[in-house]
Amino acid sequence: EAGKIAYGLGFKLYAAGGMIRDVMLGQNSIDIDLVVEGDGIKLATAMSEAFQVKIRKYQQFGTAQVIFSEDLTIDIATARVEFYAYPAALPQVESSSLHQDLYRRDFTINAMAVCLNDKKFGSIVDFFDGRDDLDQGLIRILHNLSFIEDPIRILRAIRFEQRYGFEIEKQTLNFLKEAVRQEVLAKVTPERIWEELKHILVEKEASRMLRRLEELKVWPFIFPGVNYWEVDPVLRDLAGSVDLIKEWGFWVPTEKWLPYLIALLHWSNPETARQICERYHLSKRQTEKALAALYGWRETVAMIWKSPEDVKLSQLAKQLMTMPRESYPMLLAILEEDWIKDRFRQLLNTIMDSKPSINGKYIKSLGYRPGPVFKETLEALWQERLDGNIVNEAEEKDFVRK
Ligand code: CTP
Repeated sequence: EAGKIAYGLGFKLYAAGGMIRDVMLGQNSIDIDLVVEGDGIKLATAMSEAFQVKIRKYQQFGTAQVIFSEDLTIDIATARVEFYAYPAALPQVESSSLHQDLYRRDFTINAMAVCLNDKKFGSIVDFFDGRDDLDQGLIRILHNLSFIEDPIRILRAIRFEQRYGFEIEKQTLNFLKEAVRQEVLAKVTPERIWEELKHILVEKEASRMLRRLEELKVWPFIFPGVNYWEVDPVLRDLAGSVDLIKEWGFWVPTEKWLPYLIALLHWSNPETARQICERYHLSKRQTEKALAALYGWRETVAMIWKSPEDVKLSQLAKQLMTMPRESYPMLLAILEEDWIKDRFRQLLNTIMDSKPSINGKYIKSLGYRPGPVFKETLEALWQERLDGNIVNEAEEKDFVRK
């Protein structure tokens, strides 16, 4: 449809970038990245009228976003047609502007396009042999200065390499190492690094990517002061631990990256960890979670290891409740052996099962005004339940009234 609208305006339209790569790999892609030879903003405006949807315009870049829903936006970029360049050979000129757009991109596998209108509908535009690299599993830059121009591409190369089990092509790897040596990453804002890091930390192969960041000496630029090798064993086990927790039916984190960040900071000294959180503008709550996990994991793990005769369930629960849930995967990874992991699971189950059946509402119905005392009372009640001193709702009510 967009192709037809563009055609009506006399523009050539292409789909480009990661979407083409993923389709060729037989994978789903949600990002839609369109390049128009003509006026991207005009096309977006026409699309917003045709589909009755909102758009966002970025005049100075000639780009726009068509917003179908929260999860579905289409990016439209303008590839400038330079009529003055070769006035006699228009078709070539047109494809040369697409060429320019694609040439500005990061890797050959991300620089392919598919024509969406005209007689050539469906034909693949592949100026840089991206298809071959895709078949051979190679991440290759388009020009020597690529990593210098945009150092974030260093992280992206690693991300794509590990995501697809590819290799960074030899020359490209040399340029990457050289760029790292020249400390180009020191010039990138923490905001941009964090944007890309979050992408890494939610990938299935996140731990391999982190390891590769260390191998290629990128680590100190993104986690200064954090010793990778201290956390390597835990990171390797983290994806499995997240899966296990899901399998057990305990929560799935909303910020999927947070368990990774917590795990990779847990050996650091608190000041270093705090600085990393600050550098990436984590919220107060997220920072507190990372620090609570850092302070509490040794004691928690030691208590889980103790035999049930030596530690009261209520004590254990109390300790565990100081730990954010996003640190559970890390705890599991540290516990290592299956039988002790299973004890951890039973523990979580017991704690959840003994949650008091009355809540703040009941206390309120007794005429008390809500305040910190509510929380304290309910926690004390939980403790009593865990130790078996209170076993039913009637007893709970008695306890609260007293
Ligand atoms: N791109 C680039 N340099 C960057 C970021 C992006 O050249 N630093 C280009 C690539 O051609 C990429 C396209 O912009 O394909 C879209 O970027 P983005 O949506 O971030 O990446 P995807 O390739 O779609 O990757 P993902 O599958 O992780 O979304």
